[in-house]
Amino acid sequence: MSSPAFRPSRRIVFQGLGARGVAAALAGCGGSDDSGSSGGGAAPEAGAALATVAEVPVGGGIVLPDDNLVITQPTKGEFKAFLATCTHTGTQVNEVDGAEIVCPNHGSRFSITDGAVLNPPASSPLEAFAIKVDGDNLVAA
Ligand code: FES
Repeated sequence: MSSPAFRPSRRIVFQGLGARGVAAALAGCGGSDDSGSSGGGAAPEAGAALATVAEVPVGGGIVLPDDNLVITQPTKGEFKAFLATCTHTGTQVNEVDGAEIVCPNHGSRFSITDGAVLNPPASSPLEAFAIKVDGDNLVAA
């Protein structure tokens, strides 16, 4: 890894507030039942810029695959982040569907508010990741 300086957010997987993308996302899953993508490795260092405040929809969130993080904004001005590693068998979650973070592998869903399991087979919440607002940016805390 090189510099922890500001990183552009083009790799962000935008997730809207609707559910329209779900079917397409699932259709692309192709029956892979192994551990799936394990995603981006180590979490970003403290101070690393992750996204801009404006990129995270209120009542939803975004997935940062390369950082293996999900950043959400459950209510306006309240930002949360979680490791994107599903607590079932470790697939990287890949979508935020409204107020739910979705794992493509076996369909577990987690709350954007606290990472709690909303739909099994996962039984443990997503691991929280500390972030803070720094001007217009969200950075690792
Ligand atoms: S790895 Fe099975 S639901 Fe996520």
